Amino acid sequence: MSGTAQIGVTGLAVMGRNLARNFARHGYTVAVHNRSYAKTESLVAEHGSDGEFVPAKSMADFVASLERPRKVVIMVKAGGPTDAVIDELVPLLEEGDIVVDAGNAHFPDTIRREAALKKHGLHFVGSGVSGGEEGALNGPSIMPGGTPESYESLGPILEDISAKVDGVPCCTYVGSDGAGHFVKMVHNGIEYADMQLIAEAYDLLRQGLGASAAEIGEIFAQWNTGDLESFLIEITADVLQHVDAETGKAFVDIVLDQAEQKGTGRWTVQNGLDLGVPITGIAEATFARALSGSVPQRAAGRAALPAHAASWEVKDRAAFIEDVRQALYASKVVAYSQGFDQIAAAATEFGWDIDRGAMARIWRGGCIIRARFLNRITEAYERDQDLPLLLADQYFTDAVASGLPAWRRIVAGAAQNGVPTPAFSSSLAYYDGVRAERLPAALVQAQRDFFGAHTYKRVDREGTFHTEWSGDRTEAEA
Ligand code: 6PG
Repeated sequence: MSGTAQIGVTGLAVMGRNLARNFARHGYTVAVHNRSYAKTESLVAEHGSDGEFVPAKSMADFVASLERPRKVVIMVKAGGPTDAVIDELVPLLEEGDIVVDAGNAHFPDTIRREAALKKHGLHFVGSGVSGGEEGALNGPSIMPGGTPESYESLGPILEDISAKVDGVPCCTYVGSDGAGHFVKMVHNGIEYADMQLIAEAYDLLRQGLGASAAEIGEIFAQWNTGDLESFLIEITADVLQHVDAETGKAFVDIVLDQAEQKGTGRWTVQNGLDLGVPITGIAEATFARALSGSVPQRAAGRAALPAHAASWEVKDRAAFIEDVRQALYASKVVAYSQGFDQIAAAATEFGWDIDRGAMARIWRGGCIIRARFLNRITEAYERDQDLPLLLADQYFTDAVASGLPAWRRIVAGAAQNGVPTPAFSSSLAYYDGVRAERLPAALVQAQRDFFGAHTYKRVDREGTFHTEWSGDRTEAEA
């Protein structure tokens, strides 16, 4: 038996609820289900005017209310809860039905689930969804994986409810099995880097200029009218100008300086290590959160290693602000370049055919890292879809080159004045590393051969070699 609902959502916490409402507002009949029926009832009672909802008490009723092939969106906590819902759903579904996991699942779980459901003749689509509560309701950026076949019927619905930029949906088929969740994971990693870079820019302005939070908020608002225009810069301007009602102080000054995380940034870094891709901006951002939360270490550090009191005497305020802006932009380009490298490496590793230009395109709206500059990334991959390094695209080469003196002044000034800028500094180090004629890695290889006979290659001929370091130092082909 099949019902009339075109799509179903199970898991009606705020994200699921808002996604269901978004479907309904776009004219779809939406089956809704939640473990506790009270949430389902309240959704229909409070938002019934959004469109057609079919509330279901049990999973069996929920499944029965869907037209075939069924499309079920799961929006529950990643990990065990997702597996539990899948286990309950699968026996109720029939061949050809589509199960969408719209949570922040770890991509290896998605690969495993896709393979398991395939055995039942079901399509499992791991889909990244970005944009928080607001995006889920009014148009998120959507990154679905799974089979191309499932996208044929599911894609148009997802594109319909996604954000639009210049009329183009912020949703496209990403690639098979876990590709959608992988790309969402990297999105979040880039989100961490972006946020850390902005935080460092704020700290530089604060310590370099002695400016107030509100003044810095105005600077960010100004930056948001140029190349840096983005959701994160916009909300930073807003947050910095917000005053705590209770104390009358700048809001940012009453917030505890310990950043938390749910784990997607950590996954991104772990995967970067697995693939051997230097995503240093994302890694530094993730470790900066870890450092902020290292409470006993920070207490010991403050006591034993007091910061020097000298204040940073910036002579030309306007020039300094412009230097920080340029350093921020250049560092941001590096973080994105690294993130897109990671996507390319994973595509090779896992056999995904991912169009990186299309990823930048669907990140232009709806998601947390939405930004004007993503258009430039799409254009770069349109010029060369196999671009080995985003930084090597002429547009970015020129953009970073013009900001380079400012970037160096800022990183050097920060080091001299004791302002921690891990993401700015490591991004500059990456830039200098990736363009170096020759790296000291040659010495590392020589050391490895010395103590462990790990061998090395020569610059002047083919082959792998070892030197008898503890003997007569003759070289032999290994
Ligand atoms: C999004 C966000 C979202 C994420 C939060 C929290 O794209 O809408 O990335 O998916 O859950 O930003 O991330 P952390 O708790 O790890 O900072």
